Amino acid sequence: MENITAGKSLKVAVLISGSGSNLQAIIDESAAGRLDVEIVLVVSSRPDAYGIKRAQAAGIPTLVMCKEDYANAQAANERIAKACKEAAAEYLVMAGYMRMVLPPVLDAYPNKVINLHPALLPSFKGAHAIQDAFDAGVKVTGVTVHLANEDYDKGPIIAQRALAVEEGWSIDDLEEAIHAIEHKLYPEVLALVAAGRVKVTPDGKTAIAQGA
Ligand code: GAR
Repeated sequence: MENITAGKSLKVAVLISGSGSNLQAIIDESAAGRLDVEIVLVVSSRPDAYGIKRAQAAGIPTLVMCKEDYANAQAANERIAKACKEAAAEYLVMAGYMRMVLPPVLDAYPNKVINLHPALLPSFKGAHAIQDAFDAGVKVTGVTVHLANEDYDKGPIIAQRALAVEEGWSIDDLEEAIHAIEHKLYPEVLALVAAGRVKVTPDGKTAIAQGA
């Protein structure tokens, strides 16, 4: 019988800078048939990111960016946008990508660049959110998935999941708990995106996730 879903998976490029445990979660959920997403390209901002090995092990093409190969961040973003288009990516999924995405990428993928952040935005923006939340002694923190735009860590929020910080936790305990949430929440949100259930209001300010 003809497989009517064949070739219909949402094609995404995943952008990483480090370990790639969230990339792995997406790979695993897709392989298990629980997430209708095909990763057509992994872009790494660092040549030494462990996530590159995860991509290679899964047979996913990679684009490894080296700072010295590009005149500036604009040129690097132009290269990323071109590679993602050539790979036929429909969405860009940032998973621990520690660089800004600039207009060449954002304009190529309007409202189609998704970011994962290890805190409850708008609290603890930036590159050290888990440490910053820990240092602030918050009792509740969590994970945010949002659309990226030119306002760093301020794009429309798609989903958030809260986490109660338990008495006596070390930073490692907190990090582990955050990652455990991320590895569940990010594939869940991507499944909603793949099902066409994430919409953005015409003013571009609010994302609505039906079923989140
Ligand atoms: C994740 O915790 C992600 O939320 C965070 O980097 C980690 C990457 O882990 N991203 C940011 O802080 C973005 N500002 P991974 O490489 O194992 O997926």
